[in-house]
Amino acid sequence: MGTELAGAEFVVVANRLPVDLEKLPDGTERWKASPGGLVTALEPMLRNREGAWVGWPGLADADAEPFVDNGLQLHPVRLSAKEVEDYYEGFSNGTLWPLYHDVVAPPAFHRHWWQAYVKVNQRFAEVVAEVAAQDAVVWIQDYQLQLMPAMLRELRPDLRIGFFLHIPFPPTELFQQLPWRREIVQGLLGADLVGFHTPGGVRNFRWLATRFTEATPGPARNEVSYGDRVVRLGAFPISIDSGALNALSRTSEVQERAKQIRADLGDPDHVILGVDRLDYTKGINVRLRAFEELLEEGLADDTAFVQLATPSRERVEHYQKMRNDIEQSVGRINGEYARVGFPVLHYLHQSLPREELAAFFVAADVMLVTPLRDGMNLVAKEYVACRSDLGGVLVLSEFAGAAIELKEAVLVNPHDTDGVKNALHAALTMSPTEGRRRMRALRKQVLANDVDKWARSFLDALGLHDD
Ligand code: ADP
Ligand code: F6P
Repeated sequence: MGTELAGAEFVVVANRLPVDLEKLPDGTERWKASPGGLVTALEPMLRNREGAWVGWPGLADADAEPFVDNGLQLHPVRLSAKEVEDYYEGFSNGTLWPLYHDVVAPPAFHRHWWQAYVKVNQRFAEVVAEVAAQDAVVWIQDYQLQLMPAMLRELRPDLRIGFFLHIPFPPTELFQQLPWRREIVQGLLGADLVGFHTPGGVRNFRWLATRFTEATPGPARNEVSYGDRVVRLGAFPISIDSGALNALSRTSEVQERAKQIRADLGDPDHVILGVDRLDYTKGINVRLRAFEELLEEGLADDTAFVQLATPSRERVEHYQKMRNDIEQSVGRINGEYARVGFPVLHYLHQSLPREELAAFFVAADVMLVTPLRDGMNLVAKEYVACRSDLGGVLVLSEFAGAAIELKEAVLVNPHDTDGVKNALHAALTMSPTEGRRRMRALRKQVLANDVDKWARSFLDALGLHDD
């Protein structure tokens, strides 16, 4: 790691840094990759551009100094334990997360959470105002920082500011439940460009902006006039570094490891895979139920289901309950259908290295991606990128942003258990010819639309032209 820090021309701001600081039992500290799709998508893009990244190091009360890692400046923002509780676990993940994911869990509205959200957004704005060079481009990420665009503009009117929301933007009726709806919309309108995954997000936001602020539609279709400025809105479906993942999945190490995984599972006829952050929006219970019913009906003999689940937001109540429910289901299903030495369900509450994950994708005959709601879902795209053999079938929820692009997946309504069960059965019994036809079309889409293309289209719209 180097130490040279200079005013940055291009700054990404996200709640988390791409690395989390971890305290080991012996009291020493180390940095490790942080979880989630945002980091997966943005890190390769930013490393190519040598910018700066401002974010929280993932630990309360951590006094980490800024540093340079592989040409990327990292600027940690300190959060106290109380701020982690109220801003991160509270307002971000107890209010906004469930509200924006179609209230699949009830959101809680607390004024002290909101106050912490305002305070922390202001702190992020102050750090960025210090880090960014004159006329720099600042790209703010995600729902934790929606007030920041306006706060930053106030401090640094010279900056060009983009904002991208990585989660769904909710239907207007749901957004209007938020006691601080006007402040959030005003915060976002501080940006020059506000990006969403889907055109539906753009429509909902445009309507709310004109309803709750003085913004007026136009002059162009995806624009609103706000004070003396024009704010552009746009749909930019995010993606992955598909070329790199495709190459990784083809290496002999990953191919060998995939064979080994199947052997370790007892060489079953079929391997089903789920890969998620352990989050109640991901519909993990839905797919366990569908699998259990197929077992009951004798339609999933000699089949192993592997569920990999990254630990996530473990102190938030809904997450604790969901984890208990899932672990109970895993225990019940194995209790009923496993034989000694051969569980039918393999559940790993662990985060795995990229190479290992790629090997699981290569090993799986069926990939089950069944969120009740998801902004995009990168796992679906990662599976496709890893299947250069054209093998494997992707079962994908209609309520994931990815379903708009990945039309050749077997699409399911995750609220319909019979539908998911039938889709899983169809995937397990699909003819290789049909499977290859679908996978070929999916790969064409995913390989042609990678994360670099996504970043370029957003930054072009923001007016940053890089060669
Ligand atoms: P989200 O942003 O909600 O976490 P995404 O599907 O968009 O959902 O992104 C999740 C990212 O985390 C993907 O890059 C995926 O490969 C990674 N991931 C999920 N589960 C694991 C795991 N158990 N081990 C390692 N990486 C994981
Ligand atoms: O994209 C959704 C997202 O919430 C990101 O903002 C975040 O980095 C990732 O998922 C993981 O969540 P968390 O940072 O709360 O662990």
